Amino acid sequence: MSNQPRHIAIIMDGNGRWAQAQGKNRTYGHEKGAETVRAVTTFCAANDEIDRLSLYAFSTENWKRPKLEVEFLMKLLEKYLKNELKTYLEGNIRFEPIGDLTLFSDSLRQTIEHVRRETAGCTGLVQSLALNYGAQDEIVRAANALIARNTPLTAESLEHALDTCENVDLLIRTGGDHRLSNFLLWQAAYAELFFTDTLWPDFTTAELEKIIKKFKTVERRFGGLN
Ligand code: IPE
Ligand code: IPE
Ligand code: MG
Repeated sequence: MSNQPRHIAIIMDGNGRWAQAQGKNRTYGHEKGAETVRAVTTFCAANDEIDRLSLYAFSTENWKRPKLEVEFLMKLLEKYLKNELKTYLEGNIRFEPIGDLTLFSDSLRQTIEHVRRETAGCTGLVQSLALNYGAQDEIVRAANALIARNTPLTAESLEHALDTCENVDLLIRTGGDHRLSNFLLWQAAYAELFFTDTLWPDFTTAELEKIIKKFKTVERRFGGLN
């Protein structure tokens, strides 16, 4: 039996370099990158084998960027969520944010909550957007939540206190770098890792299909013997 790519996670990297390569501002790359998000999400929603798509949109470390770029990303995110509500509903896609949302503006938080609530009844793909997400921060928040509830710390209790307890099957990073940059460190413990030099705005569903095909041929052992 071949592997099912039930949960795909993507580190969407390379927007800035994509724009700079054509003499444009980095922000132009983020706008183009949002179009790739739509295309990849729609593709995954139409694929019955895929239940969950986790997309790294803004890390806990991305606040270190110039203020103008951070502000642009916040505005783009709000605009994207407002514009895409229709796409979510038409595609039966449930929007589920992960990350620490408390640092966002009231307006952005309200938009995130609105889209989450409006799509809560959707039963197809879950699109999980990682927003002010860092795996180390997630694990510390989870551990603190258990301590506050006086719950013994076990692998199981900690996993269930994370923003998501869904293990990743296939993790893809675009943009040429070979690192995880603090994304889903717990959930990707046995994920298959795929790296491509393609910059995120140039990433296509055809390339995703190729990666999925390769993923299906891999022998996953989870520490056992086959
Ligand atoms: C990924 O693209 C998007 C975010 C991190 C928000 P980058 O903005 O990191 O683009 P590069 O890697 O600098 O080209
Ligand atoms: C990872 O990309 C974060 C997102 C894609 C949101 P970065 O561009 O921030 O990662 P580093 O700095 O190259 O590790
Ligand atoms: Mg980058």
